[in-house]
Amino acid sequence: MAKTVELSVILPTYNEAENIHILIPLLQKVLTKYNYEILVMDDNSPDGTYRIVEKLARQDNRIRCVRRMTNRGLSQAVVEGFSVAQGDAMLVMDADMQHDEAVIPQFIERFRAGADLVVGTRKAHGGQIENWSPMRRFISWGATKMAHFFLPQNSSDPMSGFFAVSKNFYNSIATEINPRGFKILLEILAHSHGANMQEVGYSFRPRQFGESKLSVSVAFTYLVALYDLKFGRLIPVRFIKYALVGASGVVVNQLVLFLSRSGFKLSDAIALGVAIEISILWNFVMNNYFTFKDKSLTGAANLLWGFLKFNFVCLGGAFINYSITMSLVASFMPNIYLANLVGIGVSTIWNYFINLQITWKRELD
Ligand code: GDD
Ligand code: MN
Repeated sequence: MAKTVELSVILPTYNEAENIHILIPLLQKVLTKYNYEILVMDDNSPDGTYRIVEKLARQDNRIRCVRRMTNRGLSQAVVEGFSVAQGDAMLVMDADMQHDEAVIPQFIERFRAGADLVVGTRKAHGGQIENWSPMRRFISWGATKMAHFFLPQNSSDPMSGFFAVSKNFYNSIATEINPRGFKILLEILAHSHGANMQEVGYSFRPRQFGESKLSVSVAFTYLVALYDLKFGRLIPVRFIKYALVGASGVVVNQLVLFLSRSGFKLSDAIALGVAIEISILWNFVMNNYFTFKDKSLTGAANLLWGFLKFNFVCLGGAFINYSITMSLVASFMPNIYLANLVGIGVSTIWNYFINLQITWKRELD
């Protein structure tokens, strides 16, 4: 009878040819006492990482290489690894030797003692961080604090790429996991209410070969993801973006007004008109390429028609802003700045929903 696999080690790789041929033998050594498999999830790396793994796999049938051709991405690779893994527990780690393979037996012990989820952490007892720039430390610190506020489990390293789940626990939440970007542990933590979570400390090593794929934009995506997990249904991320663009439009408006008056010596009425129209154009462009990036209008005709519709909607918004502000001032909010704030708020909500349906309508969300 075939023995069950106790642990699947999932190694997502993208251009790790220089590392993987060192790491796999290290893993084999650490894991000799256990029934394990090693799954390399490679996104068809240009440096031929998969070729090295395929060669190792021919010598040891506990090693498998999945060469992924579509849907590139770290989380996607990991999720696909989970779905093909056979182990009762599934461990994910960087393939660049930054995660210390020597602590893997401690992960196995935790599962034997009933853990659902084990997080390798750089901060728990026995863990430390080597060679980090102050910037990276700061981002990591901020993200951890944010996660404590947002997530049901207080992991001391919620961004960790070194963690493991039991197959049973994972299967119970798998349909709710949304694989995007770098945030797979975050998704799991967000669905870990009541789960038995454990931590294993380790020392994070500097990367010797190849380069990191984590960037500032990845960190930003992480923050957006955290917000989305918690409040996304209440106030959509898209609306926040829309409001941010609106705020930037106010700055553009004032700036153009100032330039037109003092630089170009235009009359107040004309300067104001120019300022308003340019800020509308600014907002349209920003919304098209930022807020509605996934449904961007393209081609001269679509852009022009979209811009006209946007102007039209803004006109409606301006009217709402004006009438609300004026009636508030006339009734119980004599302070015009406060009243205007309310007016701006309501017209922003109006503009957002109308633009969603008229200017960027492709599908409602
Ligand atoms: N298949 C696949 N596809 N693998 C990828 C991709 C991808 O698009 N992008 C990165 N990887 C692999 C890398 O080859 C590496 O094995 C692992 O995923 C982690 O990528 P790194 O580039 O080494 O990330 P890092 O070391 O900068 O970031 C680490 O710390 C972060 C938190 O601070 C990782 O452990 C992250 O997972 C972690 O979130
Ligand atoms: Mn790494």
